Amino acid sequence: MSDRAVPGDDRADDRRAREAVAATGPTVRAMAPGRVNLIGDHTDHTGGLVLPMAIDLATTVTGVRTGNRVVLRSADEPEPAVVPLDVGDPTRVSPPWARYVAGVVAELRPTEGFEGTVSTTVPIGAGLSSSAALEVAVALVLGADGADVLALAQLGRRAEQRASGVPCGIMDQLASVAGRDGHALLIDCHALTVAPVALPDDVEVVVVDSGEARALSGSAYAERVAQCALAEAVIGPLRLAAPGAEVAIDDTVVRARARHVLTENARVRLAAEALAARDPAMVGAAMAQSHASLRDDFAVSTAVLDTLVGRLGAAPGVYGARLTGAGFGGCAVALCTPGALDRWGPERSWRVRPSPGARVEGPARG
Ligand code: GLA
Repeated sequence: MSDRAVPGDDRADDRRAREAVAATGPTVRAMAPGRVNLIGDHTDHTGGLVLPMAIDLATTVTGVRTGNRVVLRSADEPEPAVVPLDVGDPTRVSPPWARYVAGVVAELRPTEGFEGTVSTTVPIGAGLSSSAALEVAVALVLGADGADVLALAQLGRRAEQRASGVPCGIMDQLASVAGRDGHALLIDCHALTVAPVALPDDVEVVVVDSGEARALSGSAYAERVAQCALAEAVIGPLRLAAPGAEVAIDDTVVRARARHVLTENARVRLAAEALAARDPAMVGAAMAQSHASLRDDFAVSTAVLDTLVGRLGAAPGVYGARLTGAGFGGCAVALCTPGALDRWGPERSWRVRPSPGARVEGPARG
């Protein structure tokens, strides 16, 4: 190699790199967090109250806007997601994780494709909203307006419903979009208002994975949503009814489902007030009651989750514990004194911090 060849090749490399950027556009990067719900499960789909927080486990999508397909590679998945911009039914897309990408594409209908990578620290399929984080991050890199928090969350929810066929509520996507550092979020899922509630410094939130895959969660979730609709046909909107109103419902199963929703809405209100008043013992008591209600009235717990929540609740320094999310497996959440669950086992666990919501960086020259 001659002396002169080296600087000459460098210049050619530089030019090729500049041309590549010009051809494919600037790098775009979006980050969307997972969420854990402190209290208020199976209330969002009837427009009730929830108290989740965005967590410091997140999904990042990086790449360039180009072409007429969305092509994403993930270190966690053997096969890439390759989704044409005119994709039809997202449930027919393969591999399964690409359905969430397809759901976003079908909702957003961007005019330009995307090529890039996905990486995540959210445990996949454990009930910490890994799919909501993916949907929100993909929507942002494809050009969804990150400033319109509600529209972005609603788009993500519709994408999730399209991809999974599950008639989910808005909690997961709204928590991922509207997250606030150091705060849980009191969300009214009918009015779509988000009120941040500070998490005191002297408590910790720990998520523990039951290790149980969320079996049958789709069809059982839809069945619960239908039962809530039956209850509303008798006593009107559940979000407006007070605990006790469910006695007017004859069907014992539907009555129990309604009792859960009515009492859970009341518990969310109480827990948010107790959190704001720095009364973690009161929050913990509400969490324990929430678990019992999800187990007995809403019937979405499992023996494994019940045992785990019982062990967590009995551990020194724990104010309260419950299953979190849809149930049928997945994770439990505990509120505790700092360090109380540092040596928890044998299940995997994460100490999570309430974190800022999704954000997008770029377009900036990569
Ligand atoms: C899942 C759904 C949410 C919510 C929870 C249960 O996470 O996606 O909308 O209904 O279950 O509270």
